Amino acid sequence: MKAIVYTKYGTPDVLELKEVDKPIPKDDEVLIKVHAVSINDWDWCLLQGIPFINRLLFGLLRPKKQILGSDIAGRIEAVGKDVVGLQPGDEVYGDLSGDWGGFAEYVCARENALAMKPAGMTFDEAAAIPQAAMLAIQGLRDKGQIKAGQKVLINGAGWGVGTFAVQIARLYGVEVTGVDSSGKLDMLRSLGFDQVIDYTQKDFTKNRQCYDLILDVKTNRSVFEYARALSRNGTYVTVGGSTARLLQASLLGPLISMISKKNIRIVGLKANKDLAYMNELFETGKIKPVIDGPYGLSEVPEAMRYFGQGNHRGKIVITLEHSEKT
Ligand SMILES: NC(=O)c1ccc[n+]([C@@H]2O[C@H](COP(=O)([O-])OP(=O)(O)OC[C@H]3O[C@@H](n4cnc5c(N)ncnc54)[C@H](OP(=O)(O)O)[C@@H]3O)[C@@H](O)[C@H]2O)c1
Repeated sequence: MKAIVYTKYGTPDVLELKEVDKPIPKDDEVLIKVHAVSINDWDWCLLQGIPFINRLLFGLLRPKKQILGSDIAGRIEAVGKDVVGLQPGDEVYGDLSGDWGGFAEYVCARENALAMKPAGMTFDEAAAIPQAAMLAIQGLRDKGQIKAGQKVLINGAGWGVGTFAVQIARLYGVEVTGVDSSGKLDMLRSLGFDQVIDYTQKDFTKNRQCYDLILDVKTNRSVFEYARALSRNGTYVTVGGSTARLLQASLLGPLISMISKKNIRIVGLKANKDLAYMNELFETGKIKPVIDGPYGLSEVPEAMRYFGQGNHRGKIVITLEHSEKT
């Protein structure tokens, strides 16, 4: 089969289209013909071997997993003997992070990493959902305890997490402000943000506005600056960003909560946990993935370069040539 392979850390130039052996599913796995796969921040970091923790976990000098790509959608071709809930022909999607292998014509996955794809959802739409939508729902609902009537701010709103988060937040009857760079503000308005802030022009932590809930994908400020932008009993939730800032939030967050009654929380992704709920929201027209692309499998290096430049909107999706869209 064809796959995009890398054998050393580096820029997208180290990614090569190669012929490799088709994977064989273990007893508890299924073999999936991949129809679409989306790019995540984790793919970008693993490509370069950053931050250092990724090297400790996934290969100190060179990558142990040589095919990246975690958010996949496709059709099951074969099932291992212990698989009970899935069968050949089923259309599925899910986040395979930890195992990766999605930038390829076929990938193996455990049953519990997959959800059934609704018939009305294209493979491209399905591949855009898993990681970004899980971070958005788990950030807003589980850690943020979002409630009707709140003022909510999403910092870093224009890529995967933010574009799902605004659609989910609006279901709760809240007022939502999005922060991103100027080129994305029209798109954010069209997605349902009530207000938008260009971070290159204004600092939302210094504009005397307070928010009941802040969902942050960048975490590039001190935890005290975020606390200042929270209303009384407000909650700041980070899903990712600068490692030093995340460490500061986890160490000083409990102290800030004790002194001020403001909450500082960090999301630990529970992969695929809420995909059934996303299916429900999709089928009732409440969420629609924002897709940039699609690119072909051979264009993954170019798509990764584009991801690194940061000018995309929503999720960058790769469609495989054998894909028959629903
Ligand atoms: N918690 C977990 O378990 C877990 C698991 C997987 C991933 N993650 C995290 O999830 C996040 C993925 O989020 P994502 O892909 O939606 O977005 P992202 O990579 O964090 O960036 C989203 C947006 O932020 C904008 N941005 C850049 N600098 C900014 C600033 N100073 N202020 C406000 N916005 C700014 C970017 O626009 P411009 O480029 O135009 O400036 C871009 O549109 C990452 O932080 C990743 O580490 C967390």
